[in-house]
Amino acid sequence: MPSTVVVGAQWGDEGKGGVVDVLAERADMVVRFNGGNNAGHTVFVGEEHFALHLVPCGILRGKACLLGNGVVIDLQGLLGEMRELESRGIAVRDHLLISESAHLVLPYHRALDAAEEQARGAAAIGTTLRGIGQAYADKYARSGLRALDLTQPAVFRDKLAAALAHKNALLTKVYGAPPLDFDQVYAELAPAAQELAPLVADIATVINQALDDGKQVVFEGAQGTLLDIDFGTYPFVTSSNPIAAAAAVGSGVSPKRLHRIVGVVKAYTTRVGAGPFPTECEPELADKFRVQGREFGTTTGRPRRIGWFDAVVARKAAMLNGIEHLAVTHLDVLDQFDRIPICVAYRCDGEQRHTFPTSLETLARCTPVYEEMPGWREETTGVTSPAGLPRAARAYLDRLAEIAGARLLMARMGPRRDQTVVVEA
Ligand code: GDP
Ligand code: IMO
Ligand code: MG
Repeated sequence: MPSTVVVGAQWGDEGKGGVVDVLAERADMVVRFNGGNNAGHTVFVGEEHFALHLVPCGILRGKACLLGNGVVIDLQGLLGEMRELESRGIAVRDHLLISESAHLVLPYHRALDAAEEQARGAAAIGTTLRGIGQAYADKYARSGLRALDLTQPAVFRDKLAAALAHKNALLTKVYGAPPLDFDQVYAELAPAAQELAPLVADIATVINQALDDGKQVVFEGAQGTLLDIDFGTYPFVTSSNPIAAAAAVGSGVSPKRLHRIVGVVKAYTTRVGAGPFPTECEPELADKFRVQGREFGTTTGRPRRIGWFDAVVARKAAMLNGIEHLAVTHLDVLDQFDRIPICVAYRCDGEQRHTFPTSLETLARCTPVYEEMPGWREETTGVTSPAGLPRAARAYLDRLAEIAGARLLMARMGPRRDQTVVVEA
């Protein structure tokens, strides 16, 4: 397949990093198309652990890595991540390009994220405090700074000064927060801007040329479908579109060039931050998942909220993304259970419904309807081929694929590369 889009089909942290890493082995290029350093994509290479936030996971395989126009880029965050990777022997600069049109996340976005979250009080979204929503707001208000501005130092300085004056008024007069000092902000950003400027390029042309040349491209989605700004549990969402269609808009390729859509699901469900979560389970049960599944946020370290697999969510994600291939991760975490519930519908106002309500008020009145599958009570972490899977585990995977109306592409039974069973190449 010339191009593959990898998307999260739940509330993020489905294990997209690991899936992209597996697919990247045979790819030439990996492109991020949405989100910023709110994402945290974990990859294990042997026993070595990498947490990537902006740099596409393909970097660990030495592939060309591109940040599309749909991504928002925190200059200091990106540089910090690049340096950390370089200190571990990975040649990032030889492989990384940044779209000219990608918007920048600047220190005042982070300050405003914190101020706005605080002002929301009990209604806080539980953002990652990375200034993501504020950067996208400026993009759509047509007042943002873009990566292109890094290549013109005088323009960058002027735009930064104008934006900071406006944001300081907001910070001080609306939120009663301290202002940011322009000289200090500029002194921190100018060297970062200078260092990143050589990586800024016309990414759309680079990707389209690569596809013209028959290269294999993986589009790496961040976040997950239920965090989508349009289709997620608004306002408890992120500020970008993590769905497959955004791979086109967020990188500059035609939707006709997106060939294979891979949806990633955990074998159960997790969520970080606030907002509705119909299958969320009680704390004692959540603890059972948390240790084996390392269920702490990669970016913020917060413990993730946990629940059983939700087919209503999966069907919605399958529809919105056009998922044809399913990657199921964290199967090993279910090794410990005798019976495994799957939420197949919601009961709401005395009736069963199979679609996910848009209204959070309606959703609050929904309770899960479960069917149960037998567990396998056998360790799957060492399984490397489809034939090695316990029969009940294979039945569970097939049921998830059936729910999504998709073919099972791979199952993952641990964070390491070799803890993967590829069912369909
Ligand atoms: P992403 O944001 O979708 O890339 O997912 P994260 O990296 O944030 O979260 C997934 C977490 O689970 C990380 O700590 C991974 O190392 C770990 N992980 C990924 N796949 C598996 C798996 O199949 N089994 C287990 N037990 N852990 C996994
Ligand atoms: P990856 O790519 C899980 C959540 C936050 C919060 C909401 C809004 O690793 O799957 P934001 O900082 O984006 O304004 O926060 O979205 N969130 C994620 N949850 N995985 C992510 O990314 C997330 N990125 C944002 O916890 O609830
Ligand atoms: Mg993550």
